[in-house]
Amino acid sequence: MKAIIITGGAGFIGSHVVRLFVKKYPQYKIINLDALTYAGNLENLRDIEQEPNYFFEKADILDKDALERIFVLHAPDGVIHLAAESHVDRSILSPLDFVYTNVIGTVNLLNKAKHFWKDNFEGKKFYHVSTDEVYGALGETGFFTEDTKYDPHSPYSASKASSDHFVRAYQDTYGLPVVISNCSNNYGPNHFPEKLIPLFINNIINKKPLPVYGDGLYTRDWLYVKDHAAAIDLVFHTGKTGDTYNIGGFNEWKNIDLVKLLCKQMDEKLGNEAGTSEQLITYIKDRPGHDRRYAIDASKINKELSWKPSVTFEEGLKLTIDWYFENQEWLKNVTSGEYQRYYEEQYSKGN
Ligand code: NAD
Ligand code: DAU
Repeated sequence: MKAIIITGGAGFIGSHVVRLFVKKYPQYKIINLDALTYAGNLENLRDIEQEPNYFFEKADILDKDALERIFVLHAPDGVIHLAAESHVDRSILSPLDFVYTNVIGTVNLLNKAKHFWKDNFEGKKFYHVSTDEVYGALGETGFFTEDTKYDPHSPYSASKASSDHFVRAYQDTYGLPVVISNCSNNYGPNHFPEKLIPLFINNIINKKPLPVYGDGLYTRDWLYVKDHAAAIDLVFHTGKTGDTYNIGGFNEWKNIDLVKLLCKQMDEKLGNEAGTSEQLITYIKDRPGHDRRYAIDASKINKELSWKPSVTFEEGLKLTIDWYFENQEWLKNVTSGEYQRYYEEQYSKGN
């Protein structure tokens, strides 16, 4: 019997990780620890919330007393840490929120694990889920490897880089058994519609402009979220303690090419005449500090842990579009209220 705390389990990636672990490991106790910020949504887990090995704890990782209570109650052997502020544009609007949750929250969690395990780390693991954005930006060629020097440019990536450094410092200083993975852009079901793909799906459904930043030639490496969850499972169980694993889709797209493919698939789904959705594309002011290109070299996890993506981008995008059509209620719920205020602030001023 293992008990694992998964932080941020009500969010996009976290909910897929929680579902995978709850279903695949009925002998484990899975504790979803989440503050339920705007990005956290228990609707994401309705299908598994009655499972006997699933537990939910509403708590902020900044709240040390809450962490103490939850660790004592559930006595975890492992922590998989996904809770974070995750959107680059929001980090430009409110950088301190990212310092609090991503840096201080992570250090709180490291302290709690260290103290709860009383420096006896046999059979314990602290897994920190991070991003490729810590490596900065690439030019036309090259890839991020596990040895690429950190060079973050946004408040979001700076906060994630800082949290990665703290995680490694706890391994080096206190011997806490840690593992880190740095992943490229995820997409798929339950993705909050502030990020490129779900935002544009929602806007096409509502016939709203598709706001492409700058020249649209920025490049990202896209990975289907369930393939990331499968990689997290492998890294948690078979990754080498103290190591870092880069995870990516071997799947680079310039934003404008991706948006055109999305428009084509959306037109097919909606029964529109070809070219209809593309007419919504609107170039707007660039994101400040916008990283030109990300591309992950995922050969280490591929060779050492035999992981590779299971779906092509075209397949994954189709599955994603189908999910948003089948879950329009979810989309309506998450785009009411605070979302409207954020959308106004992000897209209406000076663009
Ligand atoms: P998300 O924004 O969808 O979800 C974040 C979750 O964390 C939410 O459920 C939210 O309620 C919770 N949370 C936020 N602040 C909290 C706090 N103070 N205490 C407790 N819970 C809190 O994020 P995501 O896209 O699922 O990303 C999950 C993790 O993976 C993040 O650490 C992110 O940096 C990393 N990551 C994301 C991507 C991506 O493409 N989305 C890629 C690589 C790495
Ligand atoms: O690389 C991993 C990272 O991917 C994760 O760590 C982050 O949590 C996640 O949000 C994501 O960051 P990006 O900034 O790359 O994702 P986003 O979907 O916000 O933007 C993708 C690209 O699309 C980027 O070049 C900016 C552009 N974009 C985005 C939005 C929201 C637009 O052109 N218009 C938009 O409205």
